[in-house]
Amino acid sequence: MTTIAIIGAGPGLGAAVARRFGREGHDVAVISRARDRADALAARLADDGVHARGFAADVRDPEALTAALDAAGAALGPVEVLQYSPLPHKDFMKPVLDTTAADLVGPIEFSLYGPMTAVAQVLPGMRGLGRGTVLFVNGGSAVRPHPERAGTSIAFAAESVYAQLLHDTLAGDGIHAAQLIIPGAITPGDPHTDPGVLADTLWSLHRTRDGFRHYAAPVAP
Ligand SMILES: NC(=O)c1ccc[n+]([C@@H]2O[C@H](COP(=O)([O-])OP(=O)(O)OC[C@H]3O[C@@H](n4cnc5c(N)ncnc54)[C@H](OP(=O)(O)O)[C@@H]3O)[C@@H](O)[C@H]2O)c1
Repeated sequence: MTTIAIIGAGPGLGAAVARRFGREGHDVAVISRARDRADALAARLADDGVHARGFAADVRDPEALTAALDAAGAALGPVEVLQYSPLPHKDFMKPVLDTTAADLVGPIEFSLYGPMTAVAQVLPGMRGLGRGTVLFVNGGSAVRPHPERAGTSIAFAAESVYAQLLHDTLAGDGIHAAQLIIPGAITPGDPHTDPGVLADTLWSLHRTRDGFRHYAAPVAP
């Protein structure tokens, strides 16, 4: 079996996706900034029978992200599935008129350079396998820009274009790129946005390989 690398894996969606793909036999690399949190999540997953390892990287640090994915592939085997889903920082979400060009450096590093770095690192392995899946997870501002959350809205738009271009370019190579939009908050117990429900959706996107953009729930008008 092959590996899913979850970039930005925490106790919510990241853990649920790790369990879902782990249940299907994938090894799981959980990547986040804090080594102790990544290791603790991997240990909880191991208690549930998932073969998981924690790796530390800040997605805004290309060298660290590349090294973490390299280490994950060496420890667990080739990455067949890459999920990019770090939780955006609150300071990326300022009103548009309070947002300077300099304020966009963080969001762009986080939402565009991060996934571009990660994809560049795993793509040769996916080509070697002859298959792969790249899953992008975003909030509703990726499709409906929010004037109070300018940094994420602008950076998610760039990420969405990059992801769509990957979808269009890699489809013929057996590598499927897809995006899941989660409008509103991830809410345990909610029929659409419970982490387990979202993890089922992401598993299904990986399996069915059908289309680029998917919605966990309708986007509010
Ligand atoms: N939570 C929501 O209500 C909500 C709503 C809509 C969409 N989403 C989407 O869902 C995904 C997140 O799911 P979740 O909220 O349940 O989070 P989660 O999987 O519980 O945790 C995400 C993890 O991202 C890591 N992270 C944050 N900044 C990072 C960075 N610079 N580099 C590396 N890792 C970083 C954090 O760990 P460290 O602190 O250890 O780095 C955090 O634990 C994201 O794609 C987000 O856009 C979430």
